[in-house]
Amino acid sequence: MAIDRSAKARPKNLRKTLKHFLKYIGKHSRLLFVISILVIIPAVSQLYGTYMIKPLINTATSNGDKSELARLCLIVAGVYLTGVTSAFIYMQLIARFAQVVIYDMRRDLFNHIQELPIKYFDTHSYGEMMSSFTNDLESVTDALNNSFATLIQYFVQIVGMGVILFLFSWELSLVVLGFYFIMFAYIMYSGKKSKLYYSRQQKAMGELNGFADEILRGEKTIKSFTSEKDVIKTFVNKSEELEKASASALTYGNSMVPMVVFLSYLNYGIVTVLGGLMVISGRISDIGTLSSYLIFVRQAASPINRLTGNINSLLNGLASMERVFNLITLEPEIDQGKIEIVNVDSSMTEVKEKTGYYAYKDEKQLIKFNGNVKMENAIFSYVSGKVVINDITIEGEAGEKIALVGSTGAGKTTIVNLINRFYDVDEGKVTVDGINIKDIKKDDLRSVIGMVLQETHLFYGTIEDNIKFGKLDASHEEVVAAAKLASADSFIRRLPQGYNTVLTGDGENLSSGQRQLIAIARVAISNPPILILDEATSSVDTYTEQLIQKGMDMLMVGRTTFVIAHRLSTVRNSSAIIVLENGRVLESGTHESLIKSRGKYYSLYTGKTELT
Ligand SMILES: Nc1ncnc2c1ncn2[C@@H]1O[C@H](COP(=O)(O)OP(=O)(O)OP(=O)(O)O)[C@@H](O)[C@H]1O
Ligand SMILES: [Mg+2]
Repeated sequence: MAIDRSAKARPKNLRKTLKHFLKYIGKHSRLLFVISILVIIPAVSQLYGTYMIKPLINTATSNGDKSELARLCLIVAGVYLTGVTSAFIYMQLIARFAQVVIYDMRRDLFNHIQELPIKYFDTHSYGEMMSSFTNDLESVTDALNNSFATLIQYFVQIVGMGVILFLFSWELSLVVLGFYFIMFAYIMYSGKKSKLYYSRQQKAMGELNGFADEILRGEKTIKSFTSEKDVIKTFVNKSEELEKASASALTYGNSMVPMVVFLSYLNYGIVTVLGGLMVISGRISDIGTLSSYLIFVRQAASPINRLTGNINSLLNGLASMERVFNLITLEPEIDQGKIEIVNVDSSMTEVKEKTGYYAYKDEKQLIKFNGNVKMENAIFSYVSGKVVINDITIEGEAGEKIALVGSTGAGKTTIVNLINRFYDVDEGKVTVDGINIKDIKKDDLRSVIGMVLQETHLFYGTIEDNIKFGKLDASHEEVVAAAKLASADSFIRRLPQGYNTVLTGDGENLSSGQRQLIAIARVAISNPPILILDEATSSVDTYTEQLIQKGMDMLMVGRTTFVIAHRLSTVRNSSAIIVLENGRVLESGTHESLIKSRGKYYSLYTGKTELT
């Protein structure tokens, strides 16, 4: 019997998980039915084959009738052949079944993750989500492939053998049962003990892997601090711990198998002697029955062993399944907005294609879209009790550039998160053209807001593809025009492969300034009426800074723009500058008026204080 090495791999709510699972397999109920039938056949054929030993031996030892022997042999061959054939077929069908079920699960998992609110991504690690896609789906596949069918097959075999054994001789079967009971108790007892060693081993392994993962990701930092030697030392220590834990776990685990083997041989020996005596005394009718009986006893060990092994893999699969289902059933992003934003032509008629003109559409009418954004008395906290936005009012009209400045952690990015509804305000409201953004469909709202995020993310693919992400059906000319607008064209052209340069892992082969330029081009191509630019904090060289500045300025023309600037030189020409501190508006006004009032902005601008 296998030892349970996965101390934690147990589903917490088995019923709920199974109910959800039924939905997935329900769709393939016909295939499942065929598999269930096919699975029973090999089990029954093996039982029958072993049972046939009795008439075979009896015929051979009594009259030796050759034609009768040949007939029996043919039957046995036929029975085994049927068993093997159906096993072959059901294995193929099960592999297919597992794949279609996993396909559905994988698709649902991915689709659902796309619907989750930003809050989820802010509070869960990438590794955690990734592990559901890799480890969890893999162990569900394993369980479906290996455990599920064999479980049925072995169950049928064990029950069948039990019945036959008792029918042949109940006295001998009681002895056999007694031995199995002892073996089972022994395995349970030592399984429990070895679980302790195995969980120690797992913990050590988890720590070692976690350490290696962290170090490999931070290799640049480690080299720059020349900490390689320390890191190696820690790694060796952790490796040694794992080695010790594994050694004791294995020593213990491996001592169990010989013991169980010894017990089963002892059982076999005793039953053989007792059985022989019973044939002599006439309590068992013939030698054929005893032979068949003894073979059943030998065979019984195998399905019992495998069944316990498979139960572990099955439970493991169920626990993984539960984690996947928990993700799939997480509350998606709520969208109660009813008002749509549609494209219109110059005579305010709704059109399908992108015109650059928009209108709000509710049940009755089309209302012109202007793009006046207003945040009124907003209060917000990510974590309850820690207010991050404290009664903020900001307004930006179409064509205006509103600059948000303030030290790190002041709440600038948070304001942006509230405008495009990555998060919702706790109190107060955000409106566009007087309409509360909660009443606008989220997708529509986001499609009229272009964002250059503080942390640019570029995808694996060419530069052209990355810019096209803002407008999937854009032509090459549009891509170039957008890049020109964003002042990205000249550096892209200087790359050996130009627009076809393939960006690897988040654009690591570009400088951070270049990454931002591409992000700006990506927004430029989507031509949104509202623009939000969250400047990257990482400093770029003066030349690139000027490029970014130029790119942004070109992009801002005619749009409502919110700029989060870390360099005050870039905000001078804003319609309004808002100075934030600790989630509050400290002062606001034009560059001139703020300089005149000699407050925080003045001291920041004149270099008396620095933005931190
Ligand atoms: N996802 C989050 N969960 C919890 N707290 C957060 C989260 N994001 C930001 N905060 C907190 O909210 C506050 C404001 O953060 P925000 O990102 O808005 O600052 P910021 O002004 O954009 O700073 P920076 O100039 O460094 O970009 C900080 O105290 C920060 O710790
Ligand atoms: Mg920020």
